Amino acid sequence: MGEVLGVGVTHYPPLMSGQPETYANILRGVMKSRLVPAHMKDPKNWPSGMQEEYEHEAERAKEHLELHRRAFKKVRAAIDAFKPDAVIIFGDDQYENFKEDIIPPFNVYCQDKFEATPFFGTPNLWNVDHTKSIKWPGAGRIAREIANELIERDFPIAYSYKQLHAPHGLTHAFANGLVYLDFDHDNPWMYPIIPIAVNCYGKAVISNRGGMAQLNDNRPESERDPYIDQHGPEGPTPRSCFRLGQLIRQITDQRPERFAIIASSGWSHAFLTGKHHWLWPDRDADRRLFEQLKIGEQRQWANLSNAEIFDQGDQEFKNWICLAGAVADRKPEIVDYLETWIFNSQKCFALFPSNGKATVGAH
Ligand SMILES: [Fe+2]
Repeated sequence: MGEVLGVGVTHYPPLMSGQPETYANILRGVMKSRLVPAHMKDPKNWPSGMQEEYEHEAERAKEHLELHRRAFKKVRAAIDAFKPDAVIIFGDDQYENFKEDIIPPFNVYCQDKFEATPFFGTPNLWNVDHTKSIKWPGAGRIAREIANELIERDFPIAYSYKQLHAPHGLTHAFANGLVYLDFDHDNPWMYPIIPIAVNCYGKAVISNRGGMAQLNDNRPESERDPYIDQHGPEGPTPRSCFRLGQLIRQITDQRPERFAIIASSGWSHAFLTGKHHWLWPDRDADRRLFEQLKIGEQRQWANLSNAEIFDQGDQEFKNWICLAGAVADRKPEIVDYLETWIFNSQKCFALFPSNGKATVGAH
C-alpha cells in the first residue's frame, strides 16, 4: 500500500516579482479602484491592527519573508525525508489555462516534463534573470492512471497533455510553490509532479480575469460583454473538492508508490473580500478554519458553501479542501500560521504525516 504525506503551503507573497517592499502592492492597487469608498482609502479609517501593520510595513514585510523562508525549508525537509515517488499538487488556475474556451472544475496535467519562466518580474527576491527557465519532471503515466481511476469511480474529471495557454509555462500556483520549496536555490526539486488545477475562482474566474480586473474596469455597463464580463457558473463546491481528495487517497492507497499530496495556496485574500472593500482578508473566518485544522477536524471544511467561500474571500482555500479530503483521517502538524492585514492573505504551512510525526527540522 502506498504511503502518503499531506502538505499545505502557499504560493504568495510575490517573491518572483518583488522584494519585501512590494508585498503590500495589491493593497495599493485596490486603493486605486473607484469601487473603494473614498473614506476607506484613508488608513485612519482602517481597523487598528491594519493601521499598525501599515505603519511598520517594511519591518513586517521582512518578518513575513523570513517566516516564509523558515516554513518552506521545514516543509521541504519533511518532503525530502519522506522521499516521494510522485507529488500531487492542488493549485488554483487564475485565468491562465482556464479561459473563455474552456473552464473545467478540475484538470489533471498528465505530462512527463514541465517548464516555466516564473521570474517574470525584475528584480525578484533572488535577482534571477526574468528569462530564466526552470524544468520539473512530471509523472504523466501515473497522472493518466489516476485520472482514469477517478472517472471509473464516478468522478468525471478533465485531463490534458499540454498547457493550453499559460505564457509562462507551468501555472503560478504550481511553479511558485515549487520555486519556494527550494527557497535558497540550493536544493533543486527532483520529484515527478502531478499538478491538478482547481477552478477556485469559480464564477468570477473570467470576469475578474483570475484576479481583480473588475476593480479597475471603468467601462460603462453598456460596453461590457454579457458573458465575459459577468459572473459565470460556480466553481466546484467544497464538497466536490473534498470528494476529489478522498478518492485520490483511495486510489493512492491502492498503488505501490509513495505520494506527497500538496495544497498550494494562501487562505482568505483581501482582493477577493468584497465586504472589506477588498482591502483586508477575512481573518476571523480563517481563524475558525485554522482552529478546526489544529484539532484534526478539517473534514468540516466539506460543509462550507460556495456562497460562504465567496463571502470570506477564501476561493483559493478550495485547494486546501481537496487536500483535506485526502488526509481527512490525520491530525496535522502545524508548521506555521501567518496572519496579516496588508499582505493580502493568511498563509498556513502544515504537514499530515502517516505516523503522526513528520521529520520537521531534520535538515
Ligand atoms: Fe493563486
